[in-house]
Amino acid sequence: MEISPAQANAFTLQREMEWFAQVIETRMKLYFGEDCVYTSIFEVPLPALDDDTSMYAGFIRYYNLHIYERIILLLALCPHVKPELLDVFLSENTHTRRGYTEFGGIRGNQHSGFIPTVETAAFLIAGKNLAERFNVYTYFSEGHFFSKHGILSVQASEHNRNEPLFSSPLLLSREYISYFTNGEAYQPVYSSEFPAKRIETRLRFSDLVLPAEVMDEIQDILHWIQHEYTLMQDWQLHKRLKPGYRALFYGPPGTGKTLTASLLGQACDMPVYRVDLSKLVSKYIGETEKNLASIFDQAEQKKWILFFDEADSLFGKRTSGNTSNDRHANQEIAYLLQRIEDYPGIAILASNLKGNMDEAFIRRFQSVIYFPAPDEHDRLRLWESAFASGRVPLAEDADLSAIARKYPITGGAIINVLRYAAIKAVEREIPLVYQHDIETGIRKEMRKEGKG
Ligand SMILES: Nc1ncnc2c1ncn2[C@@H]1O[C@H](COP(=O)(O)OP(=O)(O)OP(=O)(O)O)[C@@H](O)[C@H]1O
Ligand SMILES: [Mg+2]
Repeated sequence: MEISPAQANAFTLQREMEWFAQVIETRMKLYFGEDCVYTSIFEVPLPALDDDTSMYAGFIRYYNLHIYERIILLLALCPHVKPELLDVFLSENTHTRRGYTEFGGIRGNQHSGFIPTVETAAFLIAGKNLAERFNVYTYFSEGHFFSKHGILSVQASEHNRNEPLFSSPLLLSREYISYFTNGEAYQPVYSSEFPAKRIETRLRFSDLVLPAEVMDEIQDILHWIQHEYTLMQDWQLHKRLKPGYRALFYGPPGTGKTLTASLLGQACDMPVYRVDLSKLVSKYIGETEKNLASIFDQAEQKKWILFFDEADSLFGKRTSGNTSNDRHANQEIAYLLQRIEDYPGIAILASNLKGNMDEAFIRRFQSVIYFPAPDEHDRLRLWESAFASGRVPLAEDADLSAIARKYPITGGAIINVLRYAAIKAVEREIPLVYQHDIETGIRKEMRKEGKG
């Protein structure tokens, strides 16, 4: 019988937590000199995970977790899975009339149980052994995969900046909590702390209408993504080439820049996250750097394609004035450009104009692709595919060739006209789109663009 990822995790974690409970009990007994069947926590028999198909077990195998790392992970997971298991740490030291310092831990504002800290981990792992206690630092260092891969962190908060590292709570990332419990990949939600939004499309590459030479350049990006490993590892190009790929898409509004970014992600099965730079720069000034760092860090681990929209808003700012605000903005932009340059994945910047971009910066892109407004031939393809995409009935008088010839509008505007004409048609007794619906829609679009 098929079991769900949540069921598989639950089954495995049940056994893991039983083992972990015995580890705690053993450590307590050894520490307080009580009778114990084991002489070290290593002797507590570990559950075997070899044939276990749960995501949790897969993780343990993938990272080949040492028993200490497994203890740390379970300790961090415990408040989410079986908080009562940590209640033993709440007991009072009768000599001091307070909790045991050696157990560490903090109390939450709402969580009524014990929230473990690095001290708690050190207690379980090292007991009274000082050398082992010092060793605990390695698991929380920046170079350890716990931190590097965004799994577990012990970042000092403003409350404990001047306090020992060991007093920091163990923070398991939201993503891994959901990975180890319901087995779902966690998707961050757009917020001021995470100003990026996933974009997707239902269109296919075959729907994209662009001149052949532009398509060729887009294919190059696709080929890089598909063959990066071969190129960098097998062909050893990592010695010469910077990892990742940076592309600049520029051209008038509605010419398919955002669509192309979504299609690249779709073709390679990589999520695309869009960051609106104009919003980021204007709204979150001061916070930008921190928020950008969190996007880049997550993106790096998860192989997202990063799509920076409205990139011109950055470059406009860069050259302006010398007030402290401007300097600050320049600093943040410099930070962003540096991160983009170092990003080992795919970063795409989109802009309406290339003109005011820094020449030195443009040189750092592997592709600089101009998205032109469509010519008559491409406009006809866009019109035909727009009306063929569903079951929108066209009246006999609607002449798409004539429309394509007469009106120089973009793919984005065509989609808006489609919507307008379809709304007009659907309320009629005989629901048909007439030539003049399309033309009225086009005039509305042209007025919007200041051309009408
Ligand atoms: N070249 C194209 N081929 C096919 N469809 C297109 C093309 N250009 C635009 N469209 C249609 O118009 C919609 C809007 O285009 P898109 O958002 O990709 O434009 P953009 O270049 O990103 O514009 P902006 O600069 O305003 O962000 C697309 O989702 C698609 O339906
Ligand atoms: Mg766009």
